[in-house]
Amino acid sequence: MYNDWLKKGFVDELIPKGVDLVSEIISLREKKNALIMAHYYQKNEIQDIADFVGDSLALAWEASKTDASIILLSGVLFMGETAKILSPDKKVLVPDFNAGCSLADSCPEEDFRQFIKKHPNHIVITYVNTSAEVKALSDIVVTSTNAVKIINSIPKDQKIIFGPDRNLGNYLESISGREMVIWDGACHVHEKFSVEKIVQLKEDHSDALILAHPECKKPVLTIADFIGSTANLLKYTQQSSSKKFIVATESGILHQMQQSSPDKTFIAAPPSDSTCGCNDCEFMRLNTLEKIYLTLKYEFPEVQVKEDIRLKAIKPIQRMFELSGSLLNKKD
Ligand code: 13P
Repeated sequence: MYNDWLKKGFVDELIPKGVDLVSEIISLREKKNALIMAHYYQKNEIQDIADFVGDSLALAWEASKTDASIILLSGVLFMGETAKILSPDKKVLVPDFNAGCSLADSCPEEDFRQFIKKHPNHIVITYVNTSAEVKALSDIVVTSTNAVKIINSIPKDQKIIFGPDRNLGNYLESISGREMVIWDGACHVHEKFSVEKIVQLKEDHSDALILAHPECKKPVLTIADFIGSTANLLKYTQQSSSKKFIVATESGILHQMQQSSPDKTFIAAPPSDSTCGCNDCEFMRLNTLEKIYLTLKYEFPEVQVKEDIRLKAIKPIQRMFELSGSLLNKKD
């Protein structure tokens, strides 16, 4: 039904003409004791109204300890599910249920269950970009901020299954020296960065450093000056003495980079399949201020996770928090 509404353009119909969306969202947020969280890949205007903007790890951590009544998670569906797993007594809203994740979708629950069966005596480590059902099959969840630390903490004689991102998995193998059994999945955005176009950009901007997310393919990672999660890429740009960066991850992150370092230049790395320089995730970009306003107003659509799945899925996430240590921005 929700998809039908979207197709029929209900978003436009339900929004009163001339309404100031930002002030309406702010007043609904206060009235309903809601927390608006946004991933770094959200549109600039969404990042600007969010109470909290962060990477996958920080979003999960904040969701686990908020005392808000409603969590509105502007990101993709698995992020909303993670928030719901961690805060089952809160109403968790995601502005558009069509905001899926190609990486999570590349790892269906039943196929992953069979994959695990084929490799007995392996610990199952999964990237957070998975469904609640796949998390429920896992021993430890990781994000790109804590993956190296967590893989390094696993005893050397313990065999590891890693899923679902083959690029992150290969990168982790190269950093840790561990061999892992890796699920063959990938993120459609990070897979399509063009190494040729990035090299061309570097020739045009020889003073620029190349930054890449570990979900990128190996040729891109090979030419990168720094590899890290969105939060770590942002931190790197703040601390580096360089003034120019070519950034190979979803271009939403450039907003925070530019805001925190207005004197520096950020160039979005281009994908291979387009003449423009942008590489945006069309799922992340489904979220809009209009949909956030309606979602808060009608408290819909609400994320649900079956309780038996939730109880299994929370364990590997809690294990991740335990193993993340100082990487969590613990204020209390
Ligand atoms: P991080 O938020 O951990 O950087 O990962 C972002 C992501 O989901 C990439 O697809």
